[in-house]
Amino acid sequence: MLKIGVLASGRGTNLQSIIDSIEAGELKAEISIVISDRQQAQALVGAKKHNIEAVYLKPDRYNKKEDYEQVMIDSLAEKNVELVVMAGFMRILSPFFIKFYRGRVMNIHPSLLPSFPGLHPQQQALDYGVKVSGCTVHFADEGMDTGPIILQETVPVRDDDTEETLAARILEKEHIIYPEAIRLYSEGCLKIEGRKVIIK
Ligand code: GRF
Repeated sequence: MLKIGVLASGRGTNLQSIIDSIEAGELKAEISIVISDRQQAQALVGAKKHNIEAVYLKPDRYNKKEDYEQVMIDSLAEKNVELVVMAGFMRILSPFFIKFYRGRVMNIHPSLLPSFPGLHPQQQALDYGVKVSGCTVHFADEGMDTGPIILQETVPVRDDDTEETLAARILEKEHIIYPEAIRLYSEGCLKIEGRKVIIK
């Protein structure tokens, strides 16, 4: 069974959607460890509730980013993690980490990439005036929200939307496509060809 390691910094609703999908028998995988860079992350609480090992790794204990990431890699390797899932992890992984797990790190971003990468994508979408937005699951590469796209889902943007209302509408779709992307990976259905991810 596919062993997953989840990296999360916040409330952990995407983590919860993956747990739900596993518990419903839709996703044949096991979350072996959840790692957070924030001690107060709700994601850690959620993981513990489901008897998943939950580890807080304090970033400022390390002088170099690579040293911090090496500890992450060691923790993931100890659990034989095959796929790293970033679920609201608020740090950019360095080329050092990506090289180690190339093609085996997924991220979710609440916009239709390549539009609106980085912070506050929902506000960026509103400011630009787009009529449709959504979310993207992609493999992580060295850039910020730039890796090969696995799945996308759209939502309408309404005239009276705020950052919060649009984010909530997008989040509902995130909770559907993230477990689905992991399921496709777990069943060997994803093949990266340059920028494209072919779904077999
Ligand atoms: C999600 O909107 C995700 O797309 C973004 O960060 C947010 C994390 O939310 N990368 P949660 O912690 O999974 O609830």
